[in-house]
Amino acid sequence: MSETGSVTYSAYLKLPELLALQAPLADGVADELLFITVHQVQELWFGQLLRDLADARDRMLEGDPRAARARLVRAVSLTRALIAAIHPLRSMPPREFHAFRGALGSSSGQQSAQYVEIAGLCGADWVRGEHGRRAVAGLAAEERERLRGRLAEPTLWEGFLGLLAKAGFAVGTRDERGEAYARLAAGPLDGDPAQLAELAELAEALVDHDEVWTEWRACHALLVERQIGGLPGTGGSSGVAQLRASVYRRFYPELWEARDPGSAPLTAGCPAG
Ligand code: HEM
Repeated sequence: MSETGSVTYSAYLKLPELLALQAPLADGVADELLFITVHQVQELWFGQLLRDLADARDRMLEGDPRAARARLVRAVSLTRALIAAIHPLRSMPPREFHAFRGALGSSSGQQSAQYVEIAGLCGADWVRGEHGRRAVAGLAAEERERLRGRLAEPTLWEGFLGLLAKAGFAVGTRDERGEAYARLAAGPLDGDPAQLAELAELAEALVDHDEVWTEWRACHALLVERQIGGLPGTGGSSGVAQLRASVYRRFYPELWEARDPGSAPLTAGCPAG
């Protein structure tokens, strides 16, 4: 509050508290502050993304694909902002990073609970396997509890399949779902054209969302290569090798497979002859 009793900019945003949250561990390494700020900004946006993605999921569960799509469009734009916010770290000379890297101990971005929550909320199965176990190992009890709750919630993918089922599509098997996506992509043959168009647009928004996260992972992997080359990560992984291998992970893999349903998966080897 100001002397006149009205709320001030600084008080409303709790700026003294916010700015006090940046505490470098090493002495006199200028870019450690940049490193901390970039990570904190990512986590703030992760929080907003989780709210928007949960809202998109809820709109789908309520049967409103148009509102769900609007939220997803914002989630895509937020993720683009996240990518742009990583870029300043490219200007950190690797010698600056190495001057404080030791102070990070075994802490690592792979312990970002919100990052794992985002993937889990979307429906990615890889966070429920080894990846999730690695992340959970470094979490505080409160974060672990929150993550457990998140992974038990309905996912965006389940919300989308629920909408398809309401529109009369069979979604019980992978083949049935493949047929449903192909029909949406082909345009309305029968059924309510407006409803099918909304579902088709929502499917494309999900693909946009998947695509922008591939860009985030690629941007992060390049940054890591630029900073530490082939060194292992502080979190104990092989570093860039593992990050490169995970760039093409998908939240909604079936929507990508449906692009070309007749052909072999992209991971298959070249045909002989
Ligand atoms: C100098 C900059 C950075 C370096 C050298 C770096 C390094 C790494 C490495 C090596 C890993 C693999 C796990 C490990 O062994 O530690 C990793 C994972 C990760 N980092 Fe970074 N990182 C950097 C910046 C960032 C930033 C700005 C973020 C933003 C939040 C971030 C978030 C993550 C996340 C979420 C993972 C887990 C990725 C996944 O498993 O899909 N990192 N990082």
